[in-house]
Amino acid sequence: MLSPGSTLGAESAQVDAPLQQRLAVDSQRPQYHFLPKAHWVNDPNGPIFWKGYYHLFYQYSSTVFPQGRKYWGHARSTDMVHWEHLPMALAPTPGGPDKDGCWSGSAFINHDVPTLVYTGVFPQVQCLATSDDDMATWKKFSGNPMVALPPAGLAVTGFRDPSVWREGDSWLMTVGSGFPGQGGAVLLYGSKDLAHWDYLHPLFTAPLFERRDSARASRYDSVGAGDMWECPDFFPLGQKHVLLVSTQGRVHYFVGTYSDRKFQAEAHHLIVGSGLHYASKSFEDHQGRRILWGWVREARSEAAQNSAGWSGAISLPRALLIDSDGALRMDPLPELACLRGRHHRIANAEVSGFLPAPHIQGSSLEIRLVMELIDVTESGISVRRSPDAVEETTISYDAASQNVVLATGRSSLSPEAGGATYRGALKLYPGEPLRLTVFLDGSVVEVFANGRTCLTGRIYPTRSDSRGVGIFAREGRARVKSLDAYEMKAISPDRLTT
Ligand code: FRU
Repeated sequence: MLSPGSTLGAESAQVDAPLQQRLAVDSQRPQYHFLPKAHWVNDPNGPIFWKGYYHLFYQYSSTVFPQGRKYWGHARSTDMVHWEHLPMALAPTPGGPDKDGCWSGSAFINHDVPTLVYTGVFPQVQCLATSDDDMATWKKFSGNPMVALPPAGLAVTGFRDPSVWREGDSWLMTVGSGFPGQGGAVLLYGSKDLAHWDYLHPLFTAPLFERRDSARASRYDSVGAGDMWECPDFFPLGQKHVLLVSTQGRVHYFVGTYSDRKFQAEAHHLIVGSGLHYASKSFEDHQGRRILWGWVREARSEAAQNSAGWSGAISLPRALLIDSDGALRMDPLPELACLRGRHHRIANAEVSGFLPAPHIQGSSLEIRLVMELIDVTESGISVRRSPDAVEETTISYDAASQNVVLATGRSSLSPEAGGATYRGALKLYPGEPLRLTVFLDGSVVEVFANGRTCLTGRIYPTRSDSRGVGIFAREGRARVKSLDAYEMKAISPDRLTT
């Protein structure tokens, strides 16, 4: 039995009135993605279902840049769409092993006791906290840190982001790590009582498969160093096991088998939600669905994030399945349909060149496009388009490279906004139409293509008339079987309505 340590105060994010007023009219701010009330969010932490509520924790800092010490923000929901903000779950304890921040981790239930594991910094150590009032407040374990050092004799690149599960009469824990210059690693620990942990072996390692190709590349550019795996997420899915790792660049996943406490990867897929989706974290809901969250990073300058007073968002929840070819299938949760408002439909339209859809407008939309590519080189949808097309964002299928492409290079006239071209491989089966589901939410764009490829981007249009939608087919013809567009409702009254 763990003896509880210090109790946390009910600290909550404080947002002053001027900032609140700015946020209320900020058109870049998402209206139906989960966000803290203001300031900085990065990784989703410890998603879990408990006594009728979905709980979501997240990395929070009360400043944007420079970032402050990390807290665990906390919110709960009955549908994974609408959220109630709760007091901070974890705050750094002065003089404690987490004095410089409570970094990422996980949640689990130990004999009816909700329990969190997380990384205290600096140095990186593993800590534990429990709740005896249904997650309203959290008490830190008096024996923290429960793991004070990386395994003896191992030189590691990092040691963080624990995740715990029960196996037989033991607790097992993964910790994200890596071996300098060699590759990432997920370290496996075992315990009988959650207080004392033995290092077992690496659950899985893989050689460096990505290299930073430029000295100027930022830590989160699309090419990552690959010798530090953050936020490992390991779980059974169908007949297989899946390991997700965030490589300080992108999210990779491995599908394979798990036996003798070792993971054998049979397939390695590059990216979950290519682009700005990072630090993915999943949980199993009470219906047995495996649901994934991620951090949607920004693509604008630090100065722009600071003057906005907020940064980052949590992705929409995705349901995961193993597809017939052994890759992950990712679909937006059906629960999101409760946000659909006014509906517009186009059916059976042949497109050659550009077909405007003048009745569909907005920055808060779900668009479902089913399209047959007849003989086109590239075909897709243009969104957030100004009437003169000076600002526009496109999502298309490039038949030659068999890629879904999200192009944000012309999304914004602002020099503060970084545009990019995000690509995800998608092989269409013979006769299979392109099925794009696009969620537009202020500056967030999430794309699901045939459930097999996801792309996430950020756009910061400057013009108030950059709200148009159209369909295009370059060099050839495509047939829109159906296009359904829904105006999406805001999830709380403090958001804008479009
Ligand atoms: C991933 C990450 C984690 C760390 C957390 C700190 O984005 O770097 O490895 O625990 O963020 O906020």
